Amino acid sequence: MNKISIVGAGRVGETTAQILAEKELCKEVMLLDVRKDAPQGVALDITQAAPLFDFDTRVSGSNDNAAMAGSDMVIVTAGLPRKPGMSRSDVLEANLAIMDSIIDDILRYAADAMVLVVSNPVDVLTYRVWQRTGFDRKRVFGQAGVLDASRMAAFIAMESGFSLHDITTIVLGGHGDSMVPLPRFCTVNGIPISQFIEQDKIDAIIQRTRDGGAEILALRKISSAYDAPGASVAAMVDAVSHNRKRILPCVALLEGEYGEHDMAMGVPCVLDSSGVADIVSLPLNDAEQAGFAQSAAAVRRDIGRLPV
Ligand code: LAC
Repeated sequence: MNKISIVGAGRVGETTAQILAEKELCKEVMLLDVRKDAPQGVALDITQAAPLFDFDTRVSGSNDNAAMAGSDMVIVTAGLPRKPGMSRSDVLEANLAIMDSIIDDILRYAADAMVLVVSNPVDVLTYRVWQRTGFDRKRVFGQAGVLDASRMAAFIAMESGFSLHDITTIVLGGHGDSMVPLPRFCTVNGIPISQFIEQDKIDAIIQRTRDGGAEILALRKISSAYDAPGASVAAMVDAVSHNRKRILPCVALLEGEYGEHDMAMGVPCVLDSSGVADIVSLPLNDAEQAGFAQSAAAVRRDIGRLPV
């Protein structure tokens, strides 16, 4: 990719920019933020690391969203983070207003770009981008499942002692308390985790995955997670920019997949240079399907709160 704009130069935006630049996943990163001087400062700081990390990606910052012109992708991280004790849904009203104005700017300045949504509640805001832009659903998607699955893999490695190189996990559903980790599809080099970890420990890992964001927030106190979220966004960008055809759990618009219509939530997606090239349908058992339906109901409730 040539140019990627990141709207929101907070911690997630900064971490994402830094990884995109270090991995040279595009030629230019444009950081945008309404806070005066903030994106310029972040961009300059990352730029000064370029000689040490040896990258040529140019990073700059602006307070004017017109600078997103020419972007191949716009990543939206802007919004209020939740405070300890709040759910991701609690920031919907505040972040919807921010998102709606960013959507207007995307339509004005970068109407050909893919849009990758990170701001919370991510399922609802991804839906909002699709609803208001009318873009093909291939090029509107959100980050959640890559982070949730990475958290789950980290917990499985901590419990089993096996290398993270061999652990694959999958987490579907909305990015909230009702997310659906799928231990049946989690393996250590193809071997189901149930061969190595007892059921009560797997149950604890599932719960800790669901609470993954809240656990970090409770520990950090003044900030939500940003290291693993930034790395998760970068993994998705890498799949797109290298046309890898990776299967990653992403927030995608559903038109009948998993029995859901006219809504967005986490499902396994094929990511390539076109964006979400395909959605993979997994053969869920009754309990998994019930968990997915419950998660869908929670996302749908929040989508129902969107003004027309
Ligand atoms: C988390 C927030 C970013 O899961 O949703 O950490």
